This record gives sequence, C-alpha cells and structure tokens, in this order.
Amino acid sequence: MENNIITVVMAAGKGTRMKSNKSKLVHKIYEKELVTRVIDLAEDIGSDEIIAVVGHQREHVQAVIGDRAKYAIQKELLGTGHALMQAAPYLEGKKGKVVILYGDVPLIRKETIEKLVNKSIKDKESATLLTAIYDNPTGYGRIMRDTVGRVIGIVEEKDASVAERKIQEINSGIYCFDIEALLDAIKYIKPNNAQGEYYLTDVIKIMHDKGLKTGAMIVEDNTEILGVNDKIQLELLTRVLRMRINTGHMKDGVTIEDSNCTYIHDGVIIGKDTVIHPNTTIKSGVIIGDNCEIGPNAYIREGCVLGNNVKVGSFVELKKTVVGDGSKIPHLSYMGDCEIGKGVNVGCGTITCNYDGTNKNKTIIGDNCFIGSNTNLVAPVKLGDNSFIAAGSTITDDVPADSLAIARERQVVKKDWNKN
Ligand code: UD1
Ligand code: CA
Repeated sequence: MENNIITVVMAAGKGTRMKSNKSKLVHKIYEKELVTRVIDLAEDIGSDEIIAVVGHQREHVQAVIGDRAKYAIQKELLGTGHALMQAAPYLEGKKGKVVILYGDVPLIRKETIEKLVNKSIKDKESATLLTAIYDNPTGYGRIMRDTVGRVIGIVEEKDASVAERKIQEINSGIYCFDIEALLDAIKYIKPNNAQGEYYLTDVIKIMHDKGLKTGAMIVEDNTEILGVNDKIQLELLTRVLRMRINTGHMKDGVTIEDSNCTYIHDGVIIGKDTVIHPNTTIKSGVIIGDNCEIGPNAYIREGCVLGNNVKVGSFVELKKTVVGDGSKIPHLSYMGDCEIGKGVNVGCGTITCNYDGTNKNKTIIGDNCFIGSNTNLVAPVKLGDNSFIAAGSTITDDVPADSLAIARERQVVKKDWNKN
C-alpha cells in the first residue's frame, strides 16, 4: 500500500536526571505512562505498524507497551541515527511514510502529526521536519535553510558555528520521512561529529544533496514538543496537559473556577453549565451531565456516570457509581459500586461499606430516597424508591419502597451519672 504509515518510537535513551529506579518512559502524567501516551498517539494517527526502539531499562518499557508495538533493540546508545538503523529491518521493502516520535515527548496532538504527514504527501517531500521557533534555542538542533528558505540540513548545537547557534528555528526531533528515501539515506550517516554519534538529523543534508525535497512545518503550539528529562519537566508537562484539557471543557461550556487546581484526566465528558469547584479530581472515562455542581474537594473516580443537576460536594469520593438526575451527595461521603436513582438526598457522612475483604458488593438506591446523615450502607443492599433512612443507621438489610428504616442503638440516659 502506497500510503502505509509506520511509526517509530525512540525509546532507548537513559533518563539519568529523573533520579529514579524506573525508566523515565514509565513515569506518568495523569496516570498514563509517557510512552503509553506516545503509543496512543501512534495508534490514533492510524499507523499500520508501530516499532519501538528500546534499550536502556527496556524491560520496564516493554512491560508497559506490551504487544502494541514491535521491538527493535538498541544495545549501545550510539545516537538517534543508530537507533533508527535498528528499526530499519522492519521498514525494508515497505512503501509509504515513516513517522518518528520520541517516547519522552508525549503531548503532541494527533492533528499536528496528521498535518505533518499530509504536508509531506502533498508537497512530495522525502523528509518533513516538525520545527519550532524558540527565543532561546540552546541545546537543540538548528534548522539550516538556503537563501530562498528551503530546508537544507540540521546542525546540532555542539557542531554549530557561532552564526549557526543564532538560528532560532529548532528541530523537534519529530519527522515524517518517505520510507525508501530514509532507508537509503541512513546508510550514509557517519559518526564524524563533536559527539561521535550517528545523527539521524544528518539524513536531511544527505537527502537534499541527492536532490530530494526536504521541508518543514512549524508547530503551532510550542508546548506540544516539550520533552521530559527530569521531574520538574514532568510536572511542567502535567500542567500543560491540565490546561489543555480544562480549556477544552471550558470551550464546551463547563465552568471551572480555578483551572490550576482542577484535575480532569483525559477522556472525561462534562455537560454544559456544570460548575467545577477547586481541588476536584475527575478520572478518565467519567461522564457528567449538564448543570451539575462538583466540589470543592471532590474525587470522582473510574466508572462514574452522573446525570443532570447532580450535586457532588466537598470531601465526596465516588467510584463506579451512577447518580441519577437531581440527586445530591453534598458532603463527606464515600459511595462505591453504587447505583443512585433520581432525586435522592445522601446525607452528610453517608458511606457505602462496599468491600467485605474479598468482594466488592453493590448498593442500589431507588428514586427519591432520603438517607439520613452518617448512614452506613453495608453492601450488598438495596433501598426501594421513596425510602427513608434514619440518621446514624447501619443498614444491613434491604429496605422496601416507601418505608422508614432505623438501625441504631436506642439512646440511654443515665441521670446524674456525672454529678459530684
Ligand atoms: C535530538 C536531535 C536534535 C533535536 C532534539 C530534540 C539528533 C542528532 N539530534 O537531540 O536535533 O533538537 O533531539 O529533542 O537526533 N535515543 C535513542 N537512542 C539513542 C539516542 C537517543 O533511542 O542512541 C532517543 C532518546 O531516548 C530520546 C530521543 O532519541 O527519546 C532523542 O534523544 P536525545 O539524546 O534527547 O536527543 P539529542 O540527540 O540531544
Ligand atoms: Ca533531548
């Protein structure tokens, strides 16, 4: 197939500055490993094949990627060109495009890579680089252009002249290549440079000198190409992602009081006019309806679905819980493995005792129930529609519809017990 897309993920490097016993690539942003984010991206752009070049701590990396990629092993880290050479056997005989991604550059948007590949096809370029303009380009490869602006090569910082170091257009390290042109060009890479490495970046000049077309696309948002080398950058990227996700929800009509302390993971759906108060965490896959009020200090975990006009207040944790329209869980509750109907009021301090040490059991609460404060619902247990639970009850048995359940010790008063 002419339009094959093969993605190579560079994932062999060391992460010394992370000061960690784990591979840098298995560190997480919002509970998803850096390298998993890159593999997700490779899949999202419709790669026909994904090849991960692994080496340093590859057992950590492979444990996370599993069979989502094929592996090329780089035994010695001799540079990005050498890394690609290890992946070459997978590219042999194929036609189409190869996209190069870095395992530690996890925030590139799918749309950006799609644009890069489309440009490469449309402009018939053998190499299309993703570049950026930096005020301070120190450390990066610089893009060399001829007098009419055509890309003719990349010079690494350590090999660059004083004049070349002034170039502000940098190489992100993300590329789209024509497979056959790349396979041919890497044969000519030599490690005769300041670092004694095989530079993948050398293929640009090699291709250009052969008369092949090489071009570049400047990334719209520089934060997309940020990489992670230490835990400070890990936090920075988490912040970038947080803002990107929160901004998306705000554009869709969600009110977020303070984006800096609202932690909405990837793949959450939230309806219009829902208000999210600070210090709220909402995990991947959660669905929240319109006009809800969430937080402050709410923790909505995996598997939750909230209807419209729901209130989840402060210090409330929900897990695998469905909440019907108009129901309220205003304060200090843990509801796990629970189905809550419509119009329910869950009093302050109510919890589900969903775990018996072996199994997680379900609590089912019918429509319009009123649960008094500080109730324990010992699952499995079912409350019928319109039932009332007296405050302070420990409910172990099902409660039929329309009834009142009281399950607590009677109060005993010992008169004058503490009188001298
Ligand atoms: C590379 C580019 C540089 C670019 C920069 C962007 C080269 C020669 N230079 O710089 O132009 O501005 O990326 O960050 O390509 N890796 C391996 N095996 C190796 C070496 C690297 O798998 O032998 C992986 C690393 O894990 C990393 C990526 O390749 O994910 C880039 O390596 P890194 O050393 O960070 O890039 P530089 O060579 O400094
Ligand atoms: Ca780097």
